[in-house]
Amino acid sequence: MAARKIKNGVDWVGAIDWDRRLFDELIPLPDGTSYNAYLVRGRDRTALLDTVDPTRAADLFENLKELGTEKIDYVIAHHAEQDHSGSLPAILALHPQAKVVTNPKCQEILETHLLIPPEKFLTIGDREILDLGGKTVEFIFAPWVHWPDTMFSYLREDNILFTCDFLGSHLATSDLYVRDESAVYHSAKRYFAEIMMPFRANIRNHLEKIKDLRIDVVAPSHGPLYDRPAFIIEAYKDWVSDQVRNEVVLAFVSMHGSVRRMADYLTDVLIKKGVKVRSYNLTRTDVGELAMALVDAATVVIGSPTVLAGAHPAAVYAAYLANALRPKTKFVSLIGSYGWGGKMPEAIRGLITSLDAKFLDPVVIRGYPRPQDYAALDRLAEDIRSAHLSVGAI
Ligand code: FEO
Repeated sequence: MAARKIKNGVDWVGAIDWDRRLFDELIPLPDGTSYNAYLVRGRDRTALLDTVDPTRAADLFENLKELGTEKIDYVIAHHAEQDHSGSLPAILALHPQAKVVTNPKCQEILETHLLIPPEKFLTIGDREILDLGGKTVEFIFAPWVHWPDTMFSYLREDNILFTCDFLGSHLATSDLYVRDESAVYHSAKRYFAEIMMPFRANIRNHLEKIKDLRIDVVAPSHGPLYDRPAFIIEAYKDWVSDQVRNEVVLAFVSMHGSVRRMADYLTDVLIKKGVKVRSYNLTRTDVGELAMALVDAATVVIGSPTVLAGAHPAAVYAAYLANALRPKTKFVSLIGSYGWGGKMPEAIRGLITSLDAKFLDPVVIRGYPRPQDYAALDRLAEDIRSAHLSVGAI
């Protein structure tokens, strides 16, 4: 990969990771990702904005070499997670005079996780500036994009906002700027769902904090840059709002066909009632897709058989995930089946206590559904439709 010019004295020097398929050993990356690092060269000083994942350090070094970078004075660390900071020790070894410029929380994490000694840091405060000579970098603290340390930086002369994970997307593409908005919307929403959704209130504050800046380019740390920033900023405003859609996320698993039949029947009835359904068979589902569906849906229904007196592990995982991601979902319910007893409903309910959602009467049956069970599913579908009406989703 070659360095790419953004403005005079501002270049992209990161790495595109086309092959990566798993992040943090947790999050699937169906479309790869990129680690965006930027070199800003002022009249007097040069700053590197973040590094790259340590597995791709060679790309960063090659790009810096291509630009003839002899001296780096500052490495600005927006966030200590290693996809951005992991090549910092190697950069500091090559440029021993360089100072790591960051906020106190990020410094603390870099000291504890990368063992960078305290004397290497230049600690800055919110809204402080770093003058490179004709290039002025202003720091904007934005904790809890998903870690407590994140900050943005704003390059005043060029109206570029470097946003780290915020507004980014896990998407490997040769487009420097967003050109396929629907593809980027999908990747950015998925990324928001996976790591930022639990911090919606913080994200709202960050949007507020940048609203008066003139921004010509948003330069995130993953995925393409935005030269029409309104596209992604408006999308974020929608995702962090309290407005839910007339949608049900139905996440189920079935061992012998009973729950499958219930899920299919409920789906059909909801569709007839004008409620959109996103149905996920948990044995096949990509958890990123499921997380993304949770961003807007008014209702989540979990479906599980009874296994060893409790819930199926796949349903446990889905419930745990929904609880951890804390979507704005307003209603939850449960469908399920048992053979001879057990406490599956209690097991699932005990896992979703962090959701600020009303629990609609579940439908839990013995064996394969019979007429009275279909009638109960009809009632659940009607409860869901009424609930959606009550919150203005219909
Ligand atoms: Fe892309 Fe939170 O690191």
